[in-house]
Amino acid sequence: MKQKLILAARDAAKNAYCKYSNYAVGAALLAEDGTIWLGCNVENSSYGATNCAERTALFSAIAAGKRKFSAIAIAGGTADSPASPCGICRQVLSEFCSPDMPVYYAGLEGDIICTTTLGELLPFAFSGANL
Ligand code: THU
Repeated sequence: MKQKLILAARDAAKNAYCKYSNYAVGAALLAEDGTIWLGCNVENSSYGATNCAERTALFSAIAAGKRKFSAIAIAGGTADSPASPCGICRQVLSEFCSPDMPVYYAGLEGDIICTTTLGELLPFAFSGANL
């Protein structure tokens, strides 16, 4: 599954809209029902309005009614320096995904796949103000 998700994320990176950074990222999010949701980064001339690949994938799954997820793969950068999820994406993923959810990330090419968990990437995640 790890390999399959990374290949799907690499495919999704081909749709990246990244004319400002020229840094393409793709994400493949596995829902608990086995469906895979793809995302790419979508940049904006107002740079801060950019949406990362991980959030694109998650929001697309959420909009389709999915709420439970088993793994995510991210593809970006090089084998030597692969893209790992940014801080905002870590927090947004933590809204829906458990700390032990596997996170795979790799460069756009190459055989090396890094494996971690959401909890390792974002320990002590903020989870609300007891509202
Ligand atoms: N980017 C992602 O899509 N995901 C990440 O986890 C890291 C950064 C995008 C945002 C921007 O379009 C480009 O990569 C360069 O920062």
